Amino acid sequence: MRAPLQTALLWRTPLVCVVGVHRIGAEAKLDSSKWMDRDVVVKQRLVKGYRHPELDRSLQSFRIRNEVRLMLEARRAGISVPIVYTVDLDGSKIVMEEIPGIRVKDALQDPKTDGSDVCVKIGEIAGRLHANDIVHGDLTTSNMLLDGNRIVLIDFSLGQKSSEIEDKGVDMHLLEEAFRSAHHSRGELYDIVKESYAESYADGAKVLRKVAEIERRGRYTRKE
Ligand SMILES: Nc1ncnc2c1ncn2[C@@H]1O[C@H](COP(=O)(O)OP(=O)(O)OP(=O)(O)O)[C@@H](O)[C@H]1O
Ligand SMILES: [Mg+2]
Repeated sequence: MRAPLQTALLWRTPLVCVVGVHRIGAEAKLDSSKWMDRDVVVKQRLVKGYRHPELDRSLQSFRIRNEVRLMLEARRAGISVPIVYTVDLDGSKIVMEEIPGIRVKDALQDPKTDGSDVCVKIGEIAGRLHANDIVHGDLTTSNMLLDGNRIVLIDFSLGQKSSEIEDKGVDMHLLEEAFRSAHHSRGELYDIVKESYAESYADGAKVLRKVAEIERRGRYTRKE
């Protein structure tokens, strides 16, 4: 495996110049930067003023380690993820390869994109994740980047290792909801994702039956 070796080799080299801000979200700030002459993204978890500083530090450190561990596990499972170059637990930062593509969400909203090809790949990625007991936790088309023909999965911060069909069902439920809201005008696309998922993962059909149950439960709870 190349990634852990690269991570180890490049470990102690300092960061150089921030090139531009990618995005500031509720929990994390993303900057484009240069590191060892490479284009990188620095993801920094933000300090929350309302939490106790000690608690905040240990929570941030847990989340960073969790995100990096799952990225490495996903890579080992053959899923494309950005290379992790270095991790700064004290500064709550992950320095990773910058993927030059656009979000799959934006690609699928462009009628020029071959949506069915992209959706087959999404189903394969979800199937491979779950076959390896990796639950992403925020499986949406905003957390997938399209780089040429490959899809790169990002943002494992809410992920976990789990063999539970229920947890995998929640992942697929979220993906379906994301398709319903972001790609509602192309309703056929999610059927392609489901078909490809069930073909890529032996327990895929079981997970999809669980999704139907989760949806029924959701409707029932909303009525109460
Ligand atoms: N390695 C990367 N290469 C290129 N762009 C990236 C990379 N990582 C993140 N981005 C961009 O930054 C955006 C936000 O990143 P990410 O999803 O990791 O953060 P977030 O949703 O704010 O984080 P969190 O859910 O952990 O609080 C992505 O949608 C993507 O556009
Ligand atoms: Mg995200």
